[in-house]
Amino acid sequence: MTSRRRWARNALVGALVLVAGWGTAGWLVVGAPDAVAAESTLRTLAAARGLRIGSAVNAVPLRQEKGYRDKLRYEFNGVTPENAMKWSQVEPVPGQYAWDDADAIVDFAEQSGQMVRGHPLVWHSALPEWLTSGSFTDEQLRAILKQHIEDMTTRYAGRVGAWDVVNEAFNEDGTLRPSIWLDRLGSGYIADAFRWARAADPAAKLYINDFNAEWTNPKSDALYALVRDLRAQGVPVDGVGFQTHVTTNSALSQLKATLARFAGLGIDVAVTELDVRMPLPADDTKLTTQATVYRRAIDACLAVARCVSLTVWGFTDAHSWVPGAVPGWGAADLLDESLQPKPAYTSVHDGLAARDFTGTAVAVQSGRCLDVPNSTATGGVQLQQYGCNSTGAQRFVYNRVGTKTYTITNAQNALCVTVANGSTGNGAAVLQSPCAGLAQQKFELYKVVGSDQDYKLAATHSGKCLRVQDDSTADFARIEQWPCQTDPAAPSKQVWRLTAAPGHP
Ligand code: XIL
Repeated sequence: MTSRRRWARNALVGALVLVAGWGTAGWLVVGAPDAVAAESTLRTLAAARGLRIGSAVNAVPLRQEKGYRDKLRYEFNGVTPENAMKWSQVEPVPGQYAWDDADAIVDFAEQSGQMVRGHPLVWHSALPEWLTSGSFTDEQLRAILKQHIEDMTTRYAGRVGAWDVVNEAFNEDGTLRPSIWLDRLGSGYIADAFRWARAADPAAKLYINDFNAEWTNPKSDALYALVRDLRAQGVPVDGVGFQTHVTTNSALSQLKATLARFAGLGIDVAVTELDVRMPLPADDTKLTTQATVYRRAIDACLAVARCVSLTVWGFTDAHSWVPGAVPGWGAADLLDESLQPKPAYTSVHDGLAARDFTGTAVAVQSGRCLDVPNSTATGGVQLQQYGCNSTGAQRFVYNRVGTKTYTITNAQNALCVTVANGSTGNGAAVLQSPCAGLAQQKFELYKVVGSDQDYKLAATHSGKCLRVQDDSTADFARIEQWPCQTDPAAPSKQVWRLTAAPGHP
């Protein structure tokens, strides 16, 4: 069982305990047990939200530097070998594997409770010389590739949770990248690679991974079409990895939409190699900008339920590939060269800790928005549904006051959504009143399984759900509380699409 599935199962068990009596099919409690300790690290915060936060690992400092090992273990619950599983490293001589570095990383991860993302099985780069300059027939090359995939996946079966099976298969214009594999085996090498990997390790999640696909462009479209077509043919592609090597100039404005778009194919998505480089030397302004870019990345992943992991490509500027790869650029990681947190670290930490959000609530059965009628009254105003119109009357702030419990405050008048008089009766009015921390002003958010933003909102004092009276589709219909609908066959009733809700608990 992957950790993600394990988490989902634990959360579901939690849901059964916490909302015993609810039909559980189709509903999932919003919060995993809170792991926010006094000293919260990236990994404790991420774990509490069902997310893997990982880092690329360099085998040299892993061996030599205690500080590096400690930070890696403390802050991350996932690792990707930066180079140690690349073909040129693991098989420098045909048939003679050099497993030491890869084994060291996998051993460390196992001792540290971290999931390993194996990287990469098929790539145009980092190939051993014997392979690129050998004179093999096409058939021999195909057999060599199959053998390599089987050797890698078999050795680490049960220890590597996900593999980047195919890495960087595309050109920027969306055509397939020329490589020994494409040139000699044809485009079918991609499907073959996934099938061979699945056959050798049925449990590992299998990814295709690339860069510059984080926004809509020909490459991203081509990757999307390929994954869609492969899956239609039954090729076992489980996920898409977005490398996300970017600069402080990147707005990452389309990352969330891109992750959601690919997740719509019914697959997992992941940010796999995040770093945010800047022109050297670093200064405070650049570091602040960098922090906002990191925050956008973590927020994007958190907003998409199927974004299962975010991995940074190295966590300290002391061991980043950037200055070597892009001369004049660097300072791309979360910690500085002395392993001290940079503003980027703080912003990722804050992003993982944050739960509050502001947005509209759309009644799914009617498509209309939760709405405060025109009124200057400071209390007692009955809430209604009304056609969504982007005004402040329909914008609400959700403040997290417990693991899955929120107050809901209108952004315009700062009054709280309240069940009238703390009534526990069916049909009790839901209205506006001054926020006073009352149980009838706190709502538990229960997320619809498989959705990013669809929730039921149950008042904590009554356990009853907010709904539109009689599930009406008309403007001005009043909002009331009603026993929570548990019939999974009618899932749209009492369901609110919270447009800004975090995809992860
Ligand atoms: C990089 C490593 O970080 C460097 O140490 C190495 O010299 C070259 O490869 N995309 C990938 C990664 O998929 O494997 C690359 O890693 C960075 C770009």
